[in-house]
Amino acid sequence: MKIAIAADHAGFDYKFKLVDWLKSQGHHVLDFGTNSADSCDYPDYAYPAAEAVVNHSTDYGIIICGTGIGMSMVANKVQGIRAANCMTPEMARLARLHNNANVLTFGARLISIGLAQEIITTFLNTGFEGGRHTNRVEKIHLLTDC
Ligand code: RB5
Repeated sequence: MKIAIAADHAGFDYKFKLVDWLKSQGHHVLDFGTNSADSCDYPDYAYPAAEAVVNHSTDYGIIICGTGIGMSMVANKVQGIRAANCMTPEMARLARLHNNANVLTFGARLISIGLAQEIITTFLNTGFEGGRHTNRVEKIHLLTDC
C-alpha cells in the first residue's frame, strides 16, 4: 500500500521507526516530516499528509503527535478525510469496519512502538463493512460547514 506519514516534534522519532518498519512490510511511504525534535506546529504536517490521501497519492495516512488529538482535528478539516485517533487495535478495527477511516492518528506519548505497530497492522488489514454504515459515513461529508 501507499501510505502518507507525518508527525510533529512529539512523534518524529516514532515516525522514523515506523517508516523503516512499514517499508520492511513492503509498503510505499510518503514522508511529510517533521524530521527533528525542534518544536513545530502540528497543523503544518497533518494537513499536507491528509491532502495526499484525498488526492489519491496514497491509500491511507498515519499521523502522529503527542496524543494524536491535534493531528486528528487537523486531518478532519480536509474534505474527504475520516481520521480516527486510535489507542487500541480494536479501535483501529472498528474505525475501518464502521467509519471507513482513511487516516489513523495516535499519540507517541501514550502508546509504545509495539502497540502502534499492532494498531497500524489492524488498520491496514481491515476493510469497510459497508451496509448500514455506508449512509452514515456519507452523511459526514454532507456536513460541509465545519
Ligand atoms: C506538542 O507538545 C503536543 O501538544 C502535540 O504533539 C499534540 O499532542 C497535540 O495534539
